[in-house]
Amino acid sequence: MERTLIKDLHEHTGKEVTIGAIVSVVRQQGKMAFFDFRDRTSVIQGVVFGKPEVLEVAKEVTEESSLFVTGIVNQRPEKMVNDKVENGDIELEITGIEILNKSEVLPFPIRNDTKSINEMVRLKYRFLDLRSEKMHSNIINRSKVQKFIRDFLTKLDFFEIETPLLSAPTQEGSRSFVVPHRIWQGKFFSLPQSPQQYKQLLMCSGFEKYFQFAKCMRDEDSRGDRQPEFTQLDMELAFVNKEDVISLNENLLIDLVEKNYPEKKIQEVPFPRMTYKESMEKYGNDRPDIRTEKDDPNLLAFVWITDFPMFEETDTQNIDGTGKWTFSHNPFSKPEDSSMENFMSKGNIGEIISTQYDIVLNGFEIGGGSVRNHDPVKLKRTFEIMGYNEDRINKNFGHMLTALSFGCPPHAGIAWGFDRLMMILENEENIREVMAFPKTREGKDMLMESPSEINIEQALELGIKINKKDEDNINNGG
Ligand code: AMO
Repeated sequence: MERTLIKDLHEHTGKEVTIGAIVSVVRQQGKMAFFDFRDRTSVIQGVVFGKPEVLEVAKEVTEESSLFVTGIVNQRPEKMVNDKVENGDIELEITGIEILNKSEVLPFPIRNDTKSINEMVRLKYRFLDLRSEKMHSNIINRSKVQKFIRDFLTKLDFFEIETPLLSAPTQEGSRSFVVPHRIWQGKFFSLPQSPQQYKQLLMCSGFEKYFQFAKCMRDEDSRGDRQPEFTQLDMELAFVNKEDVISLNENLLIDLVEKNYPEKKIQEVPFPRMTYKESMEKYGNDRPDIRTEKDDPNLLAFVWITDFPMFEETDTQNIDGTGKWTFSHNPFSKPEDSSMENFMSKGNIGEIISTQYDIVLNGFEIGGGSVRNHDPVKLKRTFEIMGYNEDRINKNFGHMLTALSFGCPPHAGIAWGFDRLMMILENEENIREVMAFPKTREGKDMLMESPSEINIEQALELGIKINKKDEDNINNGG
């Protein structure tokens, strides 16, 4: 049997077709039964009337069941036309129903927005939550925007290159998740906080233009705009300067909004720029919300923040007891030329300005990047300023210093917090609403019930000893 998609039903008016659909609404009325059906493409009403054998099956149908429905596509009488819904001018006169899988009563209604439902329950039954119209469209729009970005960058000769998830600790300023290993007991992989080092290594390899929708993992407390596992649109380019990266990203963001969210208005083009100092003085933070009209959900106020200090003072000393400076954003960033003298002579460290640029949208930092220190001598200086001794530099960053010493071209890049961007574009207040399977606020996966315990055999095999922590204590933030 050939399945007709609901969006194509008009072309079959007067004919009998079969749709594969989920039942949104059932109304049983004695000798008649009315249904709202949906598939991935559209919606349609159906009616069973005057067919006792079909009505028998129709009585068994519950909401959210999946069916094959055969019926004749009829034009609705003029006064029955509903022009507020898709296919409101036609209906299906049902001649047969095959129940493919009958649904239990749902744990919560999904016909409307599910935001009023307890989020733990929504996440436990995420597969149902994602059936609701808003969640469904959030995920589909995310996919469309990803495709748009892929097409945009690929047309500009970018290559999409995957980088490893089983990796070594990186320096992104958060804690890493670690993965034990059966063979190398007592040693651990780290999950990447970003592909920063790999993408720079790809520049050493001559690919020149890299991008990736990269999964990043950071063991930090979740917030509305923060998840332990999130997606970056990560990019790196060789033979470019700061302005090249800024203008490429600005063009991409503008085109993305215009083509995918035409109802939205960008407050100012080209995007305004503000130094870190100005932003701190005027707004008290480095992700200013510069919207002139805060009640307008369709206003997008992008702003670039530049001239960040390269280093900040720390309260604590480094692991090896040295140093009191740490990088403020990214240790691989190059200082601005105007700061190079101070940087190389390790003078006035607090005043060294980095090439870091952040892109902020409506008060959220949606991305950040920099020009990199592609000269190994200069990169080494960063670690020296941070008080790392020769041993530690070689152990942690030897591979980078070596790679850079083989003629690696100058390069720069950026990474967007892709979930954050989608959150704002979809007018959501929380990145969980634009992720198919996010973690809870406490960093748990409600659906798979993880993190979960491993059995003693597995722990032995991995050579790890488990100290149990009181679960209630963790939930209370202890
Ligand atoms: P950074 O650490 O600034 O830079 O990350 C880039 C962007 O990722 C988003 N982001 C997050 N989104 C959701 N949950 C999180 N926990 C989270 N943490 C960060 C933010 C941020 O702007 N390697 C550099 C980029 C580069 O220099 O190219 C990096 O990772 O929107």
